[in-house]
Amino acid sequence: MSQALRIGLAGLGTVGAAVFRLLSEKSDHVTARAGRPVTVTGVCARSRDRDRGIDLSAVTWHDDPVALATADDADVFVELIGGDGDPAYTAVKAALSAGKAVVTANKALLAAHGVELALLAEANGTTIGYEAAVAGGIPIIKTLREAVAGNRVSRVYGILNGTCNYILTQMEEEGLSFADCLAEAQRLGYAEADPTFDVEGNDSAHKLAILSALAFGTKIDTDSIHLEGISSITQDDLQAADELGFRIKLLGVARRTETGIEQRVTPTMVPLSSAMAGIPGVLNAVAVDGDEVGEIMLVGPGAGSTATASAVAGDIVDIARGSMRAPVFGIPAAGLVDYKPARMRAHEGGYYIRLAVYDRPGAFAAIAQRMAEQSISLESIMQKEKPDKQDIKARHVVLITHETTELQIRTALQAIMDDGQIEGQPKMIRIEKP
Ligand code: HSE
Repeated sequence: MSQALRIGLAGLGTVGAAVFRLLSEKSDHVTARAGRPVTVTGVCARSRDRDRGIDLSAVTWHDDPVALATADDADVFVELIGGDGDPAYTAVKAALSAGKAVVTANKALLAAHGVELALLAEANGTTIGYEAAVAGGIPIIKTLREAVAGNRVSRVYGILNGTCNYILTQMEEEGLSFADCLAEAQRLGYAEADPTFDVEGNDSAHKLAILSALAFGTKIDTDSIHLEGISSITQDDLQAADELGFRIKLLGVARRTETGIEQRVTPTMVPLSSAMAGIPGVLNAVAVDGDEVGEIMLVGPGAGSTATASAVAGDIVDIARGSMRAPVFGIPAAGLVDYKPARMRAHEGGYYIRLAVYDRPGAFAAIAQRMAEQSISLESIMQKEKPDKQDIKARHVVLITHETTELQIRTALQAIMDDGQIEGQPKMIRIEKP
């Protein structure tokens, strides 16, 4: 049997402990798949004394992640510390500079420094496995990097955050408030340390930025992603969507357009009949449109310790076998082209609009007139009952438009607001068709 692959494991939180457990409890299975034993030789974490339910007596404890990353008795550095800065950043760079392969679940680090790290890996003849960084246990990185390599990809999109999908599902199915559902997601361990990263879309944006680079061969540009979270979604929106044949999901969408690459993370209406609408709870789903294969969709757990450990173990086995040969982002990092953003206002699609319209003669006619001026064709109109509060003079009206552009919608809504026909701000949600 070949020599063991020796692992330095940095970070022993829920995912790190699950990776350690998987590699030790299933060592025969992993050895068979890897073609040689895989042994954790060193670890590091913030607290040495914490009981994690794993036996660390046979491994070397390091207080400094950089020392572990460059230790002579480790071939691969597994980074499960998290965060886009230090200590993860410096430790990963140290490992790559020493020619060691890196396996990481750290989407924030790759979203911020992915191209620089890929260049460093390739300059040192090594690689970075990051299957666990995007959509937990779903093998979307391998799919984009290898399986659909013969395709020109036009769109990659999906549900990239388990916490948000769990919250939206619970709100819809149980009629619970956003806050109650978020608290439950945190209790179940799905949410990030700072849950605003989940609910405001930043976590999905990190993942989308990585997918976009892989799909389109562009440099990562997380800051250009148009971001809207789910904290403003109400029971009214969920019910109206359902009555109109849609469901609201937080989608990350990256699409090749004539003006550049469109990247957005926004609450999005998907038809109830679509596969994306049927993805419940903490599951993630990622769809890829390729010119040869058509649309494929992968579904699975996007968060949780064992699902993430599964992806980490898959990368380790690939490295042990010597089969992780493709460049980090599918093409050599030096060949990634600058990301050119699409004009968001040129985005074409259908839209859901919710307006609080004053209950007085001519209000509807004026709204229809403003829509017509922008050549916006309406697919359906639904008038909701007046809200319970007696002092509210407006009725909720929900409109679904046929295909139009974001510029036309925004122009019409601004004119409607200027006319004084509605109370407060209109709510606009994009519709994404499969
Ligand atoms: N907080 C993330 C989620 C975990 O809810 O999907 C995995 O990135």
